[in-house]
Amino acid sequence: MMNPLRIAVPKGRLQDETLAVFAAAGYSIPAEEELRSRKLVFVRDGVEWIFVKDGDVPVYVEHGAADVGVAGLDQILEHESTVYQPVEFGFGHCRMMLIRTPGAALSKIATKYPRITRQYLEARQLRAEIVPLAGSVELAAVLNLTSHVVDLVETGETVRIHQLEIQDLVAEISPRLIVGRNSYRTDGKRIRTLIARVEEACNVQS
Ligand code: PRP
Repeated sequence: MMNPLRIAVPKGRLQDETLAVFAAAGYSIPAEEELRSRKLVFVRDGVEWIFVKDGDVPVYVEHGAADVGVAGLDQILEHESTVYQPVEFGFGHCRMMLIRTPGAALSKIATKYPRITRQYLEARQLRAEIVPLAGSVELAAVLNLTSHVVDLVETGETVRIHQLEIQDLVAEISPRLIVGRNSYRTDGKRIRTLIARVEEACNVQS
C-alpha cells in the first residue's frame, strides 16, 4: 500500500472553495458532518486531508509534513516559502493595501504581515515602526494605536465602514495550489496527476 497523499486545507475563508475545487477534480472530500466534528485529519481513497489555520499551510508544505496544500500568496510571501505554486485559483482574489487614518503621516503600521510590510518599506526607503497584530487590524488605525495598517482588502467594506483611507497597493493576492519541493521530487507522478486534475477542475469552474 502506498502512503496516502497528504493535502493541507486552510480553515476559514478559503476552506469551502478549496474543497469544492478538489471535489470537482474528482477527489472524495470529507463529508459535511465529518467536518462539523472537531477532527482535523480525515483519510479517504488514498488521500489524507488535514485542516490547518490558513497561515500554517505553507509551513506544513514547506517542511514536507503535507505534500500539497492551498494557500494565499499573502501567507506564502510572509513565510518566504519556497514551495511550487503550479495553479492560481479564480476565487479569493484580493489586494494587500497600505491603509491609513485619513490624512495621517506615516509613523506606525499595524499588520498581520510584518515581513511583507518590512520589505515594502525597504523597497521604498520609508521608515515606520511595525506593530504586529493577529487580526481585526483596521481597529489599530481607528483607535490611533497606529497611523497605518497593511491588510487585505476584498470588497472594501471594512475600510469604508471604519472611514479609513487606502493609500497604496502592496500586492495583488490570490490563492494557489502549493507543492513541496521534496514531494514533487519523490512523488512526481501522483503530484503531477493531482495538478492536472485540479487545473482541469479550475478551467471548468471559471
Ligand atoms: C479580512 C481582512 C480585512 C477584511 C477585508 O479579515 O483582514 O479585515 O477581511 O475584507 P473586506 O474588504 O471585504 O471588508 P478577516 O475577516 O479574515 O478577519 P481578521 O481581520 O481577524 O483577519
